[in-house]
Amino acid sequence: MRRRLCADTYGAVTNNIVPASDEAIERAARLLRAGELVAFPTETVYGLGGDASDDAAAARIFAAKGRPRFNPLIVHVPGLTEAEALAAFDERARLAARRFWPGPLSLVLRRRAECGLSLLASAGLDTVALRVPAHAVAQALLRAAGRPIAAPSANRSGRVSPTIAAHVLAEFEDPHPPIADAMGPSLSRGAGEGKYAAAPDTLVRNAGEDARGRSPRAGEGLGPALILDAGPCLVGIESTVLDLTGATPALLRAGGVTLEELRAVFGEIEVPAPGENTPRAPGRLPSHYAPRRPVRLDAVDARPGEALLAFGAEAPPGFAEVLFLSRSGDLAEAAANLFALLRRLDRPEFSGIAVMPIPEVGLGRAINDRLRRAAAPKL
Ligand code: TXA
Ligand code: MG
Repeated sequence: MRRRLCADTYGAVTNNIVPASDEAIERAARLLRAGELVAFPTETVYGLGGDASDDAAAARIFAAKGRPRFNPLIVHVPGLTEAEALAAFDERARLAARRFWPGPLSLVLRRRAECGLSLLASAGLDTVALRVPAHAVAQALLRAAGRPIAAPSANRSGRVSPTIAAHVLAEFEDPHPPIADAMGPSLSRGAGEGKYAAAPDTLVRNAGEDARGRSPRAGEGLGPALILDAGPCLVGIESTVLDLTGATPALLRAGGVTLEELRAVFGEIEVPAPGENTPRAPGRLPSHYAPRRPVRLDAVDARPGEALLAFGAEAPPGFAEVLFLSRSGDLAEAAANLFALLRRLDRPEFSGIAVMPIPEVGLGRAINDRLRRAAAPKL
């Protein structure tokens, strides 16, 4: 069921979510080619896309997110051919691409001198992180745009990544209201326990372009000109970042492709100890993916006023509210639900968000990485 919300309810800045029809994708591609930002779905999380060959567009992404400029952006392309134009691929990189693309794996490789990518997009490094997303809308958008698209997760720096279009809207609304208010009545659909494969209610709004086809907010550093809505992201957690510039492949960020899957293909993989930051991953800030409420890990019992993110069939008693990442202990389901449920519990009436222990295997590594950063002291 679709729900049409009156744009006046939210004001001009919010009337830019559109269902990802062919026409909307074409319009989004035109906006990208004009140097605008567009939020779009991938199988991992929603991305805030901008033309990766345009310094001004890259600068606009950093400004919109409030992202530190030493944290390079992932560059998205539709396939291996386009990727090979941007970076040097050896046999090992081609093997990774054949095995995991399209899909939730980003490869850090040496930039080609003639790649034409904005240096700002890769924060001045001589390497670039490349990703070929599997989501049909992302694929169509990348092909229609016809140029590499830099796309970090479509949230303000340090906050929880968006897994539905309404989360993107909540991130970039200005002034920044409490998330629950910005969501309106449709948030809880599509974000609920175990519903990650279900289509959510969709906010249907008209895009607010002016006569020149540019968003009224263009150049203001405030967020995307358009948000393409294709429902919830099925993986729900960002891509794995694998550095292939050294002698041994190095895991820079745990994500949608598991360490076990990488080891099956490459054998040895350099892995940082849980919670440790690798020097080669410049953007891995200790506090990240963070809700406003404090987060407490490995919770086995309740503290006063706390809400609980539970994993498995049984939750300990005494919590003010309990949401299940996965009742059956399925890590893929837990990953898909993680960010949406963190948002749902990020409410002032709770003293904090406690999380039950998650096994450090498979997708559990990526989930625990995000949770440790959500729980880290904010600087
Ligand atoms: O799933 C994803 O990867 C999402 C969706 C939208 O595709 N995108 C995403 O992008 O998470 P972003 O920009 O938030 O992630 C960038 C990560 C950071 O950890 C950054 O340090 C690392 O990739 N990274 C990017 N370029 C790098 C480089 N040249 N060398 C090392 N790490 C790099
Ligand atoms: Mg991010």
